[in-house]
Amino acid sequence: MSSISFILDGEVIRINNPEPTRSVLQYLREDINRCGTKEGCAEGDCGACTVVISEAVDSKIRYRAVNACIQFLPTLDGKALFTVESLKQADGSLHPVQQSMVDYHASQCGFCTPGFVMSLFAMYQSEKPVNRENLDDVLSGNLCRCTGYKPIIEAGMNMYDYPVMGKNEQKLLDQLNALKSDQGLNMISSAGSYYAPTSLDELAELYQHYPDATILAGGTDVGLWVTKQLRELEKVIYLGNVKELKNINESSSGVEIGAAVTLEDAFEVLSISYPELGEFFRRFASMPVRNAGTLVGNIANGSPIGDSMPVLIAIAARVRLRQGDATREMRLQDLYLDYQKNAMQPGEFIESVMIPARDSALILSSYKLAKRFDQDISAVCAAFALRLDGGKVTDIKIVFGGMAAIPKRAEQTEDFLTGKSWDEKNIQQGMELLKLDFQPMSDMRSSAAYRSQASANLLYRFYLQTSSEISLNVFEACV
Ligand SMILES: Cc1cc2nc3c(=O)[nH]c(=O)nc-3n(C[C@H](O)[C@H](O)[C@H](O)COP(=O)(O)OP(=O)(O)OC[C@H]3O[C@@H](n4cnc5c(N)ncnc54)[C@H](O)[C@@H]3O)c2cc1C
Ligand code: FES
Ligand code: FES
Repeated sequence: MSSISFILDGEVIRINNPEPTRSVLQYLREDINRCGTKEGCAEGDCGACTVVISEAVDSKIRYRAVNACIQFLPTLDGKALFTVESLKQADGSLHPVQQSMVDYHASQCGFCTPGFVMSLFAMYQSEKPVNRENLDDVLSGNLCRCTGYKPIIEAGMNMYDYPVMGKNEQKLLDQLNALKSDQGLNMISSAGSYYAPTSLDELAELYQHYPDATILAGGTDVGLWVTKQLRELEKVIYLGNVKELKNINESSSGVEIGAAVTLEDAFEVLSISYPELGEFFRRFASMPVRNAGTLVGNIANGSPIGDSMPVLIAIAARVRLRQGDATREMRLQDLYLDYQKNAMQPGEFIESVMIPARDSALILSSYKLAKRFDQDISAVCAAFALRLDGGKVTDIKIVFGGMAAIPKRAEQTEDFLTGKSWDEKNIQQGMELLKLDFQPMSDMRSSAAYRSQASANLLYRFYLQTSSEISLNVFEACV
């Protein structure tokens, strides 16, 4: 097919051969003059551009807030789009979320307001329980520079008190189901080509044929190549419609997460087996970024400061790669060769990541050091996976992000600690050895000296947290 179809305010919109990397925000503001959605940063950071996308999943509608500035227009195919203009009720009155914002004086200059409203609208439609923690999470991708957050939080806390206007979910569900298609998209325009296969075999064949194409998953990294680096992507292959890649398969050996599974969905399932990582997952980017971005995208992007890799390496995750008809598996840690170099061959992609089932002996922690709690890039990210027997270390994995060109294990420190008593003296020596494992660099996030000191301190913190003599109630650090 060479056109996309999506629903906007109950109408099916069809666009022939859209530009592959035109953003939803450009479409709204420049093509259809729908300017309620604002542009602030154009990089997924401020939330001024927040819109809601909905999809039919298991005969229900799922609503998710995303950043329109880095969401490419063709990815709307088969979905419904809601903007702040969509919220106007049939009788002209405000939506409960908007009325609550008005009544609680939650807007001053108003620039951020449509974004906040849309994040709250996604929560409202999902009927997520309203409490401070959920609200903080839902609003983690929205910045306000003048009102102050208290009234906005109050508006969110009280939004369910307002009468619900007639929702016609069934009509939308029927429309979404009618848009479903097994046919892939092949759209070629003067601005480039966009392919959206629907099956894994089709994807493998296509990528083998066009190994120079850019694979697009959630676009939360790729989007910025376009908006910030002004890169032109000639060929884009979108993974979001490949049914096999949307799967999460749970078995006695663990969980396999497909390459099109969003960070939010992946973290939800991983938090069940690894509840101690809940807080760490919550600090990954923001809700809109986690709603669009994928776990495998984070792994494939392979940034030395990517947050998921240290903990996945520590728990011995593996990746399944596919090239044409051939598949192979490897340890995640072996995927990374050097700065922005990985073991994938031309035309090869990651099909899924496999996370082993938890064993009862595992003691696990992951810490993110960044300047803000939400939506910030790590200066240092650490993961520790420990197994003890009679107070002695039988196995330890220490993995850091932000300390080398790739996410990397502290092998010398691990070797030293293995077989030793898990005690203060050995930990102090381990902290010294970390300096041999890593020679970090300075950049705008932190100095090399800070990184060295902080990484050693994190090992000590893990020791304190795990040592039976000292019981600490340690919260995630925000330096
Ligand atoms: C505001 C903001 C905040 C962020 N905060 C964080 C954070 O706190 N921590 C963090 O780690 N990251 C963060 N990121 C980065 C980003 O969200 C993650 O890296 C995300 O997981 C990328 O997934 P994606 O699906 O969006 O990937 P995409 O942008 O679609 O792709 C990323 C790269 O991986 C390749 N790729 C994707 N899928 C595959 C595949 N299956 N096989 C082979 N190659 C593939 C693409 O070609 C591209 O090179 C943030 C980004 C933004 C915009
Ligand atoms: S414009 Fe700032 S998040 Fe999109
Ligand atoms: S009301 Fe002005 S930025 Fe939020």
